[in-house]
Amino acid sequence: MINISVVGSINTDFVFTSNELPKPNETIMGNQFNINYGGKGANVSVSASRLGAKVKLFGAIGDDIFSKENLKNLKNQKVNIANVITLPNTVGGAAGINVGSGTNSITVVSGANGKYGKEQIASKLDLILSSNVVATQLETNVAGVKFLIEQCYKNKTTLVFNPSPIIDLSENLLKKCGYIIVNEVEIKKLPNYQSDNQMLEHYNGKLVLTTGSNGVYCFENGVKHINSLKVKAVNTTGAGDTFLAAFCVAIAEGKKVFEACEFANVCAGLKVTKQGTQTGMPTIDEVNKFLKKDKK
Ligand code: RIB
Repeated sequence: MINISVVGSINTDFVFTSNELPKPNETIMGNQFNINYGGKGANVSVSASRLGAKVKLFGAIGDDIFSKENLKNLKNQKVNIANVITLPNTVGGAAGINVGSGTNSITVVSGANGKYGKEQIASKLDLILSSNVVATQLETNVAGVKFLIEQCYKNKTTLVFNPSPIIDLSENLLKKCGYIIVNEVEIKKLPNYQSDNQMLEHYNGKLVLTTGSNGVYCFENGVKHINSLKVKAVNTTGAGDTFLAAFCVAIAEGKKVFEACEFANVCAGLKVTKQGTQTGMPTIDEVNKFLKKDKK
């Protein structure tokens, strides 16, 4: 069984579903409200676990009711939570999510996640690095994420980085990542961006671009494109996290970048057909069933 370490956030998602996303200064009526388990780190952990990996999550929660429920859920999803710390007098991460038709917009408040940084990572470094692959994003303390990237590079551990929510990052740091997964908004914020293809070529196989219904781009002996699944998207929340998790699983299994993207593309495509961020993430059996049908 493959092992994945996720250093990342744990949030409670407050989800408002409507026909279209509200525009600035507009009030609209929605048709559904849900409180869901979320956070990019937790989502990746749950997705990788459902895809059959052994997952250790490194992160922080608060001492509020929602944080406690989050922890129970992670345990139920077979994620190893032994290294999730509870911070006293702190509220856990929260996200306000608007889901429209096939799109979403998210506001995140870090809470405890923002306090999970260099010191906490350093104290668990050996354990983090002992996995086949390490996954991280940018919802925990940024200095901590930068430290993690440096340490994975130094110790030759494959790190898959999804710089989301995107911030200014140096090329020097990005080049130290094993793989970088970005969407169409994030790629434009990478240093020295001129065009998508130029970036893919520049990072020479390290960079993967996901564009929702327009598919996935990667670089393996030239720029390669993979079509997205022809499915009806009912909820795209967590699709990026599913892609990241599946990509990590495939890389840990020894697949090369194109093949890993193909697998991740299927997993993310199956996710968007279902409601619920984590509950909609496919299991390995569901993915295999789909792949078998697809081949017929
Ligand atoms: O990627 C989706 C996630 O982004 C949500 O679960 C929300 O918590 C935010 O972190």
